[in-house]
Amino acid sequence: MSFPTHRPRRLRRTEAIRDLVRETDLAPRHLVAPLFVKEGIAEPAPISSMPGHAQHTLESLRKQGRELAEAGIRALLLFGIPAGKDPEGSEAWSEEGIAQQGLRALREELGEEVVLIADLCLCEYTDHGHCGVLSGEDVDNDRTLERYRRVATSQAAAGADLVAPSGMMDGQVAAIRDALDAEGFTDTPILAYAAKFASSFYGPFREAAEGAPRFGDRRTHQLDPANGDEALREIRQDLSEGADIVMVKPALACLDVIRRASEETGAPIAAYNVSGEYAMVKAAAERGWLDERQAALEVLTAIRRAGADLVVTYHARDAAGWLGA
Ligand code: PBG
Repeated sequence: MSFPTHRPRRLRRTEAIRDLVRETDLAPRHLVAPLFVKEGIAEPAPISSMPGHAQHTLESLRKQGRELAEAGIRALLLFGIPAGKDPEGSEAWSEEGIAQQGLRALREELGEEVVLIADLCLCEYTDHGHCGVLSGEDVDNDRTLERYRRVATSQAAAGADLVAPSGMMDGQVAAIRDALDAEGFTDTPILAYAAKFASSFYGPFREAAEGAPRFGDRRTHQLDPANGDEALREIRQDLSEGADIVMVKPALACLDVIRRASEETGAPIAAYNVSGEYAMVKAAAERGWLDERQAALEVLTAIRRAGADLVVTYHARDAAGWLGA
């Protein structure tokens, strides 16, 4: 008898054999690229903690959208940064708001070629940096929902294919669904940030989107990183409120939650490989401590392997190039 009977290395011998038995696919169509558009700037402003990314003007936004589409990216997630902020975040639902202008510009540039997803929150728009309107020092859930309803319909009217509520208010999906339906946007899907944790990995994003809270934090609405069961309850609740796609965020720190969401719900799952996760890879690569291409593709593959159908990633454009669109 020869030993061992099973030699797993047999299936790893050549690249062609490894290709044949590879379980997880990673292709440009799985990736969603976040983009930032800022009102009132003449030139794109690079984001220092996210090398390769910038706050765009409307013109550079179009150009970037075009380049992403040419690289094979099929979905964009847009964040707007208004020139003026107020306690209500009213620029978020203005017809001439920067996100609405950005959506129209991208649609004009790209037609139906690319799916436009609008991030729906108030933190970039309020002068205090919280995700909703305040009552004292706390975010007032139900008054905030009234604002989210207006943001959703204004984004849909500006051409968003999907709206993506990220504020973690209770009942936000039901409220937005109701508002969209009432205005005739019955076919606009909701991509819900359903399990969004209060994470330190959003640090660089807050520079990018200028939405850091002036005081306090987001722990009264975002999930405690210690809680997986609660994350699943949030996901089920968002699905029952009418979410079409549910998102887990951050991705790399929550692979277990992605796996459970995919197995336990069978729903389309998105995962957000967030700014801090991108910055870690970038910073280490800049120091020569790891190979950026290999590390980024490994991270994205791992998120897909965990069960994500879609991955929002700041590496989208580079990854599409590496993968060969
Ligand atoms: C808030 C929002 C955040 C991110 C996406 N939407 C930040 C936050 O909740 O503080 C983080 C994305 C990232 O870090 O890449 N509307």
